[in-house]
This record gives sequence, structure tokens and C-alpha cells, in this order.
Amino acid sequence: MTAISTQGLEKRYGGGIHALRGVDLEVERGEIFGLIGPNGAGKSTLVKVLLTIVRRSSGTATLLGQPVGHRPTLAKVGFLPEHHRMPRYLTGRQAVLYYARLLGMTKREREKRSDEMIDIVGMSHAAHRKLGTYSKGMQQRIGLAQSFVNEPELVVLDEPTDGVDPVGRVEIREVLLRMRERGTAIFLNSHLLSELETVCDRVAIMLDGSIRRQGTPADLAGAPRWRLAYEGEPLNGHTHSDFIFDGDNQEAQRHLDTARKAQRVVTHFARESISLEDLFLAEVRDTQGDQS
Ligand SMILES: Nc1ncnc2c1ncn2[C@@H]1O[C@H](COP(=O)(O)OP(=O)(O)O)[C@@H](O)[C@H]1O
Ligand SMILES: [Mg+2]
Repeated sequence: MTAISTQGLEKRYGGGIHALRGVDLEVERGEIFGLIGPNGAGKSTLVKVLLTIVRRSSGTATLLGQPVGHRPTLAKVGFLPEHHRMPRYLTGRQAVLYYARLLGMTKREREKRSDEMIDIVGMSHAAHRKLGTYSKGMQQRIGLAQSFVNEPELVVLDEPTDGVDPVGRVEIREVLLRMRERGTAIFLNSHLLSELETVCDRVAIMLDGSIRRQGTPADLAGAPRWRLAYEGEPLNGHTHSDFIFDGDNQEAQRHLDTARKAQRVVTHFARESISLEDLFLAEVRDTQGDQS
């Protein structure tokens, strides 16, 4: 059974904003799935539709095999919203306990689970300090403890590493891996790529409200490709002055010749594995090109 499945999901906000344009996505149980896309791509809208915070315009979606909006299923889903705010006067432990209480857990359950989750996110040492004294990374780790507190089968994290420094990001990554070991499916989104590449079993690239690519980081990177970069504006037959293409050696030579004949300074010419980061940037540039 899949953790998340969507078919042709669409969302139109008032004012003619078409935020989701037919999203098809499958997230398996027990995997970490990363949705990558620039700001405004529709990532948060997708999450909000799945959690029934906003209504979809059309299309279908299921969570843990049940249609979106099925209440007993929502109780099995943890959620860390984007830019979440918790009262600064609460201690980390009080904040997690507070959410456990909102979820209707018994006193015994919530104390046991809160302490367990605070330990898993590595915050036991600071659990009695007020949130107001925490770094962004510590706040996010308490947020993670909160989203895991009711032992969800699926956790949805909207930009969990946003604003977190590199050390904090590594710590968050470790927490996610620990939760995957426990069998929790994790769906997270980010406008940053580097951390997703190493932690995610599968990723999807979202641009302008639709999924452009989906697969394992290795699948997406795919076979090595050519990359040619030179100074100045793109020449005839080239989409960019730093572009990635498939082709045999001869075709690569033709592209290189084009640049050399125009007396361009070539800064890069190689057949190489394309990192997710570069693939993503190329995809973003192509989209911007479509619009101009
Ligand atoms: N409540 C809203 N009303 C109108 N437009 C919205 C609303 N929320 C988001 N949008 C628009 O929908 C698009 C997608 O936004 P969002 O889902 O927040 O993207 P992301 O999370 O990838 O940054 C953007 O153009 C954004 O301005
Ligand atoms: Mg967002």
C-alpha cells in the first residue's frame, strides 16, 4: 500500500493562480521521499491539499490508502508545517507534550512518547530550556519530535531544514534516518537540494505546479551526459551557455566547434555524471526559458 498517491491533482487559488497543474505522485511506505522545487513551485500547496488545509480543485489523492480527508487516517499522519511557530515561553518538552495533548493522547502515553521522541531528535539535554533560547536547528528538532509524537505511519515535513545551519541540517538528516528505521514513511519538501540527495530514497522535481522528474537520486542523475560551458550569450543551437546534453562524441565535438568558431572561451567541456543540483538548475532554467 502506498503512503501517498495522487492523480492529476489540481489547485487553483482565487486570483487565477494555478498552483498545482496535474500532480501525479507515488510515495511508498517506509521510504524517505523528497520533493524539490524553487519557491512558488507549489510544494506547500500540495502538502496542504494532502492534509486538507486547502481544498483541491480537481484530481484524486490518497494517504495510507484512504481518500484525502478521511479523519481516522489523518490521526496516523504527522505534520511539520512551513515556518511553524511555537510559543517561545514553553520549554521544548512542554511544547511536545502540548501537541501530544492536542492529539488526544493519554497522560501516560504522551509523557512516554514525548521523552522518547525528544531523545530520538537529540534534544534531551535542552528539553527543559525555553524555545526562545533555541537555535533554529533546535527548534526544528523539537518540531520533528512533535510531528513524530503520535507514532505516525507517515510524516509530512514542509521545509524542515529551512533556516537551519549546516550542522543543524546534518542532525536533522540523522533524525530522519532514525525514523525511517522505525518504519515511518517520510515525505519532505525543500527548495534546497544538497541535503535531499543524500537522505532521500526517491525524489521528485516540481516546477510551476507539476512534477517534472521522479525517481531515485541515481535514476535522475542517470547515465553520464555532456556538459559544455563557455563565456557569453548562448550560440545558435544551444539552449544556454552552460548546457547539458545527450549525444555521442561527434555530436559533442560539433557543439564544441560551434563555440570555438565563435571564438568563445570554453570554461567546461566533459562527459560526466550530472548531480541532482545541476539537473535541477538546468530544469529551472529551461522552464524560465519557456516563459520568456
Ligand atoms: N492562499 C493562497 N492564495 C493565493 N495564492 C497562493 C496561496 N498560497 C500560495 N499561493 C500561490 O501558489 C503558488 C505556489 O505556492 P506554494 O505552494 O507556497 O509554493 P512553494 O511551497 O513551492 O514555495 C505561488 O504562486 C503562491 O504565490
Ligand atoms: Mg513552501
